[in-house]
Amino acid sequence: MEILHHYSLKDRNTFGMDVSCACFVGYESEEELAGFFSSGKQSGLPKPFLHIGGGSNLLFTGDFPGTVFHSGIRYIRELPGQDGRVPVVVGAGTLWDDVCKWCAEKGLWGTENLSGIPGEAGAAAVQNIGAYGVEFQDIVREIRCLDVVTCSIKTIRKEDCRYGYRDSMFKQGAKGRYIVTSVVLEVSRDAGPRLEYGHVRAAVEKASADAPETGISPLSVRNVILEIRNSKLPDPAVTGNAGSFFKNPVVPRSVYAKVENYALSKYGPDYNMPHFDAGSGFVKIPAAWLIENCGWKGYREGNAGVYERQPLVLVNLTGKASPEEIIALEKKITASVSDIFGIVLEPEVEHIGPEKQIL
Ligand code: EPU
Repeated sequence: MEILHHYSLKDRNTFGMDVSCACFVGYESEEELAGFFSSGKQSGLPKPFLHIGGGSNLLFTGDFPGTVFHSGIRYIRELPGQDGRVPVVVGAGTLWDDVCKWCAEKGLWGTENLSGIPGEAGAAAVQNIGAYGVEFQDIVREIRCLDVVTCSIKTIRKEDCRYGYRDSMFKQGAKGRYIVTSVVLEVSRDAGPRLEYGHVRAAVEKASADAPETGISPLSVRNVILEIRNSKLPDPAVTGNAGSFFKNPVVPRSVYAKVENYALSKYGPDYNMPHFDAGSGFVKIPAAWLIENCGWKGYREGNAGVYERQPLVLVNLTGKASPEEIIALEKKITASVSDIFGIVLEPEVEHIGPEKQIL
């Protein structure tokens, strides 16, 4: 194990918060991690414990007084499959987009719509990442993890992970109990493009018409998704951010009706209010729309801002934003959306403060 003290986390969180932790532990294999925990060596480390991936969905709200763990388990391997279904096992520390690229280049369908999402495979499993009509839960078979209570390795089937919108048991009841060491995906050799989200179909068909010799392939869909993402989302390597800062709220139809009435009176009777049926009388509303309609798009305050092309993303404009500046902006946005639409936005980005204990 690599154990470092008074470690800067600035390069370990894509928001670029200049914070540190008392101790940082990196490891390279499942055996190393399991051996460390079963020998009881962790008991001498500063508490609380936190396990991070690429730090692409975190907001550190201050220096972390405990120990941060990070996985260096990186590999992608194809396992024997049948009927065109291909299991692929991926180490938790593998960059998620490397997995998408690997699958697309091999002509395997399943991960292409999730291309370009920052972060690592282990965090993808915890967070149930999603984009362009596909979620991690659609392509995973099982999760392998260390149970830190029993110090044993456990395999958890997808059906038992309680996956929901950006949610899983790893974020809820079982929080802190398991460290994901690898995930087994199930991708496919058979064509299965998922093109229903937004303008994805039109963009993929255009790309295929421009290059008829390639047709529609996992790689062509991946390239279209990367283009869409690049046109809408800031590159964290250039401008610090953690992707969507808020979740898209799921509200009762009666609440949605009020938002729609507001939209129709603002934009006219023919306006098509963006929304998605969430079943059981509930409707999902794009938080980006609510935030834009409260006037925040492109707003700047000090070093923090609201991205001008996708207001769901808060940005560290100068690279020098403090946690306090980001949180102040978050509070103002949440208050104004609540005042105008009566909807309380929930953060999608996990806030990690000194009080947070994850393991
Ligand atoms: N919209 C606006 N103004 C904007 C941008 C968007 O009003 O400036 C409205 C439009 O109506 C648009 C709708 O929001 O049709 C949806 O926009 P978009 O397709 O960009 O998706 P999103 O709902 O804002 C979600 C995910 C993203 C994911 C995209 C694409 C959440 C919290 N976010 O954003 O995930 O990339 O869909 O599938 O569900 C992330 O989780 O970090 C993330 C970036």
